[in-house]
Formats: sequence, structure tokens, C-alpha cells
Amino acid sequence: MSGDLLVRGGRVVRASGDALADVLVLGGVVVEVGHALQSPPGTPVLDASGCLVLPGLVDPQVHFREPGLEHKEDLASGSLAAIGGGVTGFMEMPNTKPSTTTPELLADKIARALGRAHGDFAFFLGATAQNADRLGEWEQLPGCAGVKIFMGSSTGDLLVPDDPTVERVLRSGRRRVAVHAEDDYRLKERYKALKPDTHIRHHHEVRDVETAVLATRRLLNLAEKTGRKVHVLHISTAEEVALIRERALGDLVTAEVTPNHLFLAAPDCYDQYGSLAQMNPPVRDVRHRDALRKGLVDGVLTCIGSDHAPHSLVEKQKPYPDTPSGIPGVQTILPLLLTGVRDGWLSLSTIARVACLGACRVYGIKGKGDLAKGFDGDLVVVDPNVRLPLERTWLHSKAGYSPYVGWLLAGWQREVVLRGEVVYRDHAPVGAPKGQLLRFS
Ligand code: DOR
Repeated sequence: MSGDLLVRGGRVVRASGDALADVLVLGGVVVEVGHALQSPPGTPVLDASGCLVLPGLVDPQVHFREPGLEHKEDLASGSLAAIGGGVTGFMEMPNTKPSTTTPELLADKIARALGRAHGDFAFFLGATAQNADRLGEWEQLPGCAGVKIFMGSSTGDLLVPDDPTVERVLRSGRRRVAVHAEDDYRLKERYKALKPDTHIRHHHEVRDVETAVLATRRLLNLAEKTGRKVHVLHISTAEEVALIRERALGDLVTAEVTPNHLFLAAPDCYDQYGSLAQMNPPVRDVRHRDALRKGLVDGVLTCIGSDHAPHSLVEKQKPYPDTPSGIPGVQTILPLLLTGVRDGWLSLSTIARVACLGACRVYGIKGKGDLAKGFDGDLVVVDPNVRLPLERTWLHSKAGYSPYVGWLLAGWQREVVLRGEVVYRDHAPVGAPKGQLLRFS
């Protein structure tokens, strides 16, 4: 029956720990997690023995490019990549074409997603000087993930570079505001001074440490001044981790890191992958990578977001700095984190805390991110015996590339379940897309 499932015999991984257990989902909702569970007659059974069973991941930062940039990605292909990665909930960014800056444009995205999105979803509204004072009202709309501010320019034309306008946005509304924190004034100066032959290898020096730290410091000051909760996206420097730790602003400030900043490091990543490793803020050297890993494990960084940001290979082949920034990654969050467990710096329960529950805590998403009574029956069954190099053909993003192709895996997702229904199995979707709106408290 639709939405009923007994997942039998797996190692259930939660933020609080892991144990061998069955998971019973009835009517799309977890009703029990425990040993030798009985289910009503006719309940489908999924044998997970020998496998890990994690809550479905929730990725709070993806760019699925629709409308306007569908040659890079669309809601169907992006969300297929998401469920292929065990990501059953996603929050999509507003720098599409046009940018998502009004209730009408938000409604248009929701209409496009219904019937085509493979996982549950919400969309961010982009902040501008023009809509700043309306955002408090609009952020309450169903299907709205909240408000996103670009303090520094990246793909698209959304930009709120100055403190007075950032402050106006922060004073309009209550929900946590997501922020791309790079200082646009410093960025403009640095791009102006760029020598014509600057190589991609220097991307992390062009958009340097100070560019990120300046903006994050300004943002923390404004959060403190206004009392508005903020979420710092894709933290990229050791200095920002230290800053957030030292300022100790509690729940006022949460922060996110991408797998790219945890698993790649400059300069090697640029030498090996060229512009395929180019994103904003940039991947930096191992000192930063190691501080980010530590910040994630000890809780200064609250969650993982992939910042899945596909561009076409043709666009990626332009000469630097005309190459667009962004790395596809929604499908490779979990397999990369599992290599972190294999390599000894990450635990399974930390994965559940930061990749499943993390975004739900940050944004107040209801019923997701855990396998406990009353939560949605969203889960991913991982076969830990898949020890193969990552295959490009397994990836569903239109991008068609990933720096992680060929990396040796420490497990791969076998089945993915959304509200009690298997929606993905053995590298392919099962059934029609069933994504619904995420709900927020
Ligand atoms: O590298 C990036 N790409 N960083 C962003 O902030 C935007 C993203 C995109 O949309 O391409």
C-alpha cells in the first residue's frame, strides 16, 4: 500500500547514535523504530540487512536553474540528482532567470515543481533594495524557504552589498535569513586589479580570505544589532570558523559548509580539475579545509549544504575569470561524507546531525531529518560494500561532470524512500515524481 513500508534489519543511523533496528512507516510517517517489528498484513518489506539506514538528507542550498537557465539544470533533473544522492528534501536558491523576488515568481516555481520534483522542496526569495520591506510578509508564503541575501555577487544579478540595505532586510520579518557573505566592495576592487593572465589556480587569492571574513564580520554585527537570526552559507575560511566560535552568538548565528570545502583543497584541486573546482566562495588550502572539518565535528558549523551549482561544460571551458563559478554536488554529499568516516575524521552520527537534521534545525523544517516516531518516512539505504570509483554515468545532473568522478567510494545509496515509498533504486528513479512542499514551524 502506498506510503507503508517495513525496512528490516539495517543499521539505523541517527544524530543520537546508531543501532540495528527495523523502521516501520505507515501512511508515509514513521510509527516505530525497534527490534523485530510486526507490520500489518500486506505491508511491503525492504530488506536492509548489511546496510546503513539514514534519514533522508535535507540539502538547504541547491541551484536547480529553472526558470531561465534550463540548459544548466532544471527542477526535474536537479531533483533526480538529489534523490539519487539520498536527498529527500531540498531548498532552492533564487538566482534563476528571472530571480525569485516576488510572490508571483515564487508561485511559478512551486507550480513548476509539483509533479516534476522527485523530492520535497521549498524556494528562497531573493532580497533586493526594492523588495526589502515586503519580505517579512512574503516569507510566510507556503513553499517559501525564507530569504536569501547575496552580499557579494556571484552567478546572477542578486546583490545587497551595503549594510543599511542588509539591515533593512534583517528588520523585515522573523525567519532565519540565509546569506552569501563575501564583501562586494573588496571583490570589485580585486577584479578591477586582476592581471590579464591570472590563472584559475589563483581563484582563492582573487576572492581572498579577507573578502569572506569582512562580510561575515559585518553580518554578525548586523545580526547582533537587529536580533534577527542569520545563517552564513558556505563558510570557507578558518578565520570565519574562529569568528563564529569567539562571538558565541548562540542560536542567532548558524553556519553551513559545502562538501567541496571539506574534501577539495587548493592549489591541487585547481591543478587537477581546473574550472570544475571553481566556486564562490572558493575552495582554499588545507589549513582552511582542516579547520572546517573540525568546526563541523565540534558543532560550530551547523549543517551541510551542497551548493549544487551546475554550469554547462562549454561555459566551464571559457578562459578564467570568465568561467562561471559553481560545482554540481547534490548527489555526492553522502558518498563523500562516508569517505570521511572511512578516513576516520567523521562519525556516522555526525553525518546524521549535519546532513539530515542540520538544515531542519536551522530553518525549522517540520517532520524531516530524523528516524523517530512522527517523522516523515524518508530514508536512504546505503550499501557500505560499494568500494568502487564513482562513475560519471550514475550522476543525473545535466552538468555531466563532477570533480569526484573516479574517487574511491566507501558506500553508495541503494534505495531512497520518500514518505514510505521507494522512489529510487539501483541508480534509477522508481515511479512518478512525488515531491511536495516542505513545511516549516
Ligand atoms: O559558486 C557559486 N555558484 N556560488 C554561488 O554563490 C552561486 C552559485 C551559482 O549559482 O552558480
